[in-house]
Amino acid sequence: MAPREARWCPVARRRPSRPTAVLLLLLLLLTAACCLAAAADARPLLPTASGARRGLLDNGLGLTPQMGWNSWNHFQCDINETVIRSTADALVATGLAKAGYTYVNLDDCWADDQRTKEGYMTANPKTFPSGIKALADYVHSKGLKLGLYSSAGTRTCSDRMPGSLGHEDTDAKTFASWDVDYLKYDNCYRDGTPETERFPRMSRALKDSGRPIFFSLCEWGYMEVAKWGATSGNSWRTTGDINDTWTGMLDNIDRNDAFAQYAKPRGWNDPDMLEVGNGGMTYDEYVVHFSLWAVAKAPLIIGCDVTSISKETLGILSNAEVIAINQDRLGIQGKKVRDYGNDLEVWTGRLSRHRQAVLLLNRGAARSASITAAWPDVGIRPGVAVEARDVWKHETLPGKFAGSLTAAVEPHSCKLFVLTPVPR
Ligand SMILES: *[C@@H]1O[C@H](CO)[C@@H](O)[C@H](O)[C@H]1NC(C)=O
Ligand SMILES: *[C@@H]1O[C@H](CO)[C@@H](O)[C@H](O)[C@H]1NC(C)=O
Repeated sequence: MAPREARWCPVARRRPSRPTAVLLLLLLLLTAACCLAAAADARPLLPTASGARRGLLDNGLGLTPQMGWNSWNHFQCDINETVIRSTADALVATGLAKAGYTYVNLDDCWADDQRTKEGYMTANPKTFPSGIKALADYVHSKGLKLGLYSSAGTRTCSDRMPGSLGHEDTDAKTFASWDVDYLKYDNCYRDGTPETERFPRMSRALKDSGRPIFFSLCEWGYMEVAKWGATSGNSWRTTGDINDTWTGMLDNIDRNDAFAQYAKPRGWNDPDMLEVGNGGMTYDEYVVHFSLWAVAKAPLIIGCDVTSISKETLGILSNAEVIAINQDRLGIQGKKVRDYGNDLEVWTGRLSRHRQAVLLLNRGAARSASITAAWPDVGIRPGVAVEARDVWKHETLPGKFAGSLTAAVEPHSCKLFVLTPVPR
């Protein structure tokens, strides 16, 4: 946290000439006060005189990581208004909406190939003949929210629709006029200007649109986005695209882990959307995927076809105890705190009410292993005893634990506990 706030402290110039010394002294005092206030405040800062701070967007959204669904991981470009409407229906029918999955997000390929003569993006007339406003109305009627997609480039990644570069204000106003609630903003067909210029342009445009629109930066972690993402968006991708494999999934969460300190309410690290239910991993591997995303305060954006979701997949995605870890109001990103070698790891994150999420992870394929979470590693004081709740089994382990907690973990599996301090 400290480095990011430190960046916004203006630097005082050296060797002041005499007439300006008094003014500069005043400035210095003001500056010091600003920096001290910034350092003391762990929460996101409101815009101040320095201007650049979090005020580009400042939409009040993202107090907890966003939850919803996105079309890309399962459907790629094969989307249409029927599939989106059925998805909204299915989110409600399966109980996923009630579990917190609110956003229904179209990814690439929703728009017509070219802008209109007047320069507006429009829905693809073949696949979305009723238009986006009608779709938003439908999704809203289900108590859900609608998300759209564009790119900080001249085209989107599919090259099947325009990007928003140079059209930020027009597009933001268009999206707002359709009552869109969320924008995922990709990074294809860029023009050579840095991400730190192209992405904030859209932040400003969204703010000026007058509608609070959740802004999901998808610039793949370029220019250390975690260090400035919170000034421009509500979440930012820290990695390249996820794929539906065990190693690809772990690779993304490992990269994301390096930036844990920058996540907090209103601004989240994003290791990309969920692959749970898409078929490339085993049940246990998907449990690991969902557990890691929960502990790391990652956006929980479902990426499978919920209109034909299996009981097993639904069980993973709607586990209320695991979701509660992700949505904990403190918003502290859990991280890897112990790597024992041999593919055995401990991840942990502080939760509200003095609780702690602890994930024991066996990345190995060969054997079951016993993994220990030791209090110094997980940040529990030595004298403290806890009760351990297994949030996948939905049972509290018998007895109390003092000093450490050890459990056997199968290959490519994890155990996820919530520890609550109890009197010894
Ligand atoms: C809509 O998209 C779905 C999923 O790709 C597809 O199965 C369906 O045939 C499409 N419907 C129309 C009318 O194009
Ligand atoms: C998945 O991603 C990982 C790294 O992120 C990469 O090494 C691997 O080749 C990818 N696999 C597929 C099938 O694309």
